[in-house]
Parts: sequence; C-alpha cells; structure tokens
Amino acid sequence: MLKTIAPSIYAADFANLQSAFEMVNESKADWVHIDVMDGRFVPNFSFGYPMVETAKKHCRKVIDVHLMIVEPRKHVENFVKSGAEVLTFHYEAVEKPIDLLRQIKSLGIKAGLAVNPDVSVNKLKGLVKHADMILLMSVFAGYGGQKFIDTAYSRIKELKQVIADENPGCLIQVDGGVNTENASKLFECGANVLVAGTSVFGSGNPKDAIEKMLV
Ligand code: DX5
Ligand code: ZN
Repeated sequence: MLKTIAPSIYAADFANLQSAFEMVNESKADWVHIDVMDGRFVPNFSFGYPMVETAKKHCRKVIDVHLMIVEPRKHVENFVKSGAEVLTFHYEAVEKPIDLLRQIKSLGIKAGLAVNPDVSVNKLKGLVKHADMILLMSVFAGYGGQKFIDTAYSRIKELKQVIADENPGCLIQVDGGVNTENASKLFECGANVLVAGTSVFGSGNPKDAIEKMLV
C-alpha cells in the first residue's frame, strides 16, 4: 500500500517556487500538494490554475490538488486541463458528491473527497466506494501552520473499516499540522499520504524532514 508525503506548496517561499519544486523533485516525496482556496468555502485565498500549471511544468511528482472552494463542479475540467492528477473537493461544498467523483474519474484522473474534522466518518458510508481517496483534515481547512487535532488517529481507524467494507483500494490522506512527531503514528493507523506544509518548508532541511516522516 502507498506510503508517501505530499509537501504543501502553500507553505513554500513564493519568491523561490522553482527551488521549492526542485526540492520536491529531489526528495523522497512522491506527491506535491496544491491548496486552492477561494475566500468563500474558506475565508482565505491561495492560488488557482496558474499554480497547478506551474507545478505540472516544474515538478515530476504526482500533482495533488485540494480544492477548498464552493461549486467545485464548475472548475474540475479546467483543473484537470491544468495538470491535476489527483483532484479532491470537499464533501461540505457539494450536494451530490457521487456525481462529482464520477465526473472527475471520467476525466481520467483520481478523485478525492475531503472532510473537515467535525464531519463524522459515518457520513462517508456509501461514498467511499466511489472515491479513489478520502482526505481527512486534521485541522479545519483554510490556513497553514495550525495545530494538529489528534482525533485524526481514531478517524483514520474508523475510515479504514469503511474502506475495507466498500473499496479496499481507496487511499487515505491526512492534511494539517503533520510533522516529524506525528507522521509515523498516522502511517501506523493506516494513512497513505501525509500532506505537510510548515513542517517541511519551515524546517532548515526540507528533504531531511520528509525523510524523517517516512521512517
Ligand atoms: C490547510 C491546507 C493544508 C496546509 C497544510 O487548509 O489544506 O494543505 O497547506 O499546512 P500545514 O502542514 O502547515 O498544516
Ligand atoms: Zn490541503
């Protein structure tokens, strides 16, 4: 089963994006994470299509796009055209998640469904079978550098059971406050992809931080 890190570009120095992508290329991380925030689904703004295109151009790792936006359906096609290889939207942002998961998959890429920490894992029953990945937020979506909420551990275990029942190939991603202290326990609980922003780009040695999280 996949076990990797997805460094979050939102925490990089935007004046040195090329070196951020180069660092990811040279690192043990297999994915790179792009956070899209619209100032509506979350209060904050980040970036959109141009950043995904830039990542596709400069980064050889899997382009993992996390949409924190209202009405994601309107934008999925353009994010796929921009280079997204995994495209995740929020359960809280749509009325018919199954339709959108199907639409994303029909465009030939992986479809992910994200939930904030206050959404019960039970709500994902019946949806997991349609998803390639479930993203469990371990902070409330919207800002980097927040403190890890440790209900994530039990939520992963609960989700693993739903995945075993519905769709054994479905990946589990965890996002928010991940660092060298909590990464190994998250992997042990069953996470496949850990998103890490501040703990990678805020560290003196990002490649080393990634490696430590994989131990
Ligand atoms: C938060 C974003 C995260 C963020 C992670 O809303 O979805 O991907 O960049 O940053 P850290 O690792 O600093 O919590
Ligand atoms: Zn994210």
